[in-house]
Amino acid sequence: MSTETNTVGALEVAALKHAQGCRAYLILDPASKEALALDVHLDQAGEAAQRLEADGYRLRWMVDTHTHADHPSASALMAGHFKATRVAHAKSKHAGVTHLPDDHEPLALGDGAVTIRHTPGHTPDHMALLTPGAVFSGDSLFIGGVARADFLGGDAGQLYDSIHDVMLSLDDATLLYPGHDYEGRTHSTIGAERTGNAWLQIADRDRFVSSLEADAPAEPANMAALLRYNTEAIPFPATISASETIKIVEQGGAGTIIDVRGADELQQAHIKGARHIVLDEILERTDEVRKTPAPRLILCHLGQRAAMAQAALAQHGIGGLTVISGGIMAYAQAGGETEGGDPGAALEGGGCSAKAPPPA
Ligand SMILES: [Fe+2]
Repeated sequence: MSTETNTVGALEVAALKHAQGCRAYLILDPASKEALALDVHLDQAGEAAQRLEADGYRLRWMVDTHTHADHPSASALMAGHFKATRVAHAKSKHAGVTHLPDDHEPLALGDGAVTIRHTPGHTPDHMALLTPGAVFSGDSLFIGGVARADFLGGDAGQLYDSIHDVMLSLDDATLLYPGHDYEGRTHSTIGAERTGNAWLQIADRDRFVSSLEADAPAEPANMAALLRYNTEAIPFPATISASETIKIVEQGGAGTIIDVRGADELQQAHIKGARHIVLDEILERTDEVRKTPAPRLILCHLGQRAAMAQAALAQHGIGGLTVISGGIMAYAQAGGETEGGDPGAALEGGGCSAKAPPPA
């Protein structure tokens, strides 16, 4: 993870990059020392809190642009710790959210304000945030891309309207801070996207909709558990049974498993698509852990080493970790499919971005 800070008008914007491509932002008002945090991933709670505390900021607002289906939100944790007001759109119905702003509503930050815009499309509850000189587009307009709109009540036509009516009404010099970037970037400008983003060259709404609806990516792994965590505040379980794990693997979630056994053990039997990080290296390879979609299911022979990995990672601020009870032995006994030989590369889960658009 890394942070990049820019001055935007009277505010500072700290962009927190997550290895999984998620972007969180701290919008900081140096004059009043008030701050707004946006879309913080559970893995980033420590980094965000450290940044706020080191510079003496008071977190006033904790905002989610929408219901996240691809990663666990740190909003409950952050708002509780900093006594900040949790904000989401009225349609989100998140447990613990106390402020449900209307379209165009300002959230005061020092002498200025951050303005909420309701921008449905990716989800019905999606909001973008505007400050003088910048737009925080969440999962609507990305750098060179747009969000997907095929789950959680998403609507490709609404996404087109939100992007064209809200994002493209802004000046070309407006900085664009998206909710994801899978190529390591933190920002672009509206002008650069207006001319260079292939999705924005599709002027016809119907063609945009049919292009977006064609060839939808896979759903994020473990989406049901993530939604329970993000919307109902139901914590990830410390352990999961072998039979529940089998169901997750059958639904395409093998890429959420981290196998912490040794290479010789994996040669004998492993779950196809699981990530391999031997226990001894787990703290040196935390970026690979973070790249694994949460909740991450930790696997070993019988469960002991997995529990050690869970405890060690938790001490380093990585949550969303669930131990597979009884390890690979229980998994195989319950009828789970395993294979021998070289495990190969882990599968990646689906994200929030649409696939590349068709050629014009
Ligand atoms: Fe999203």
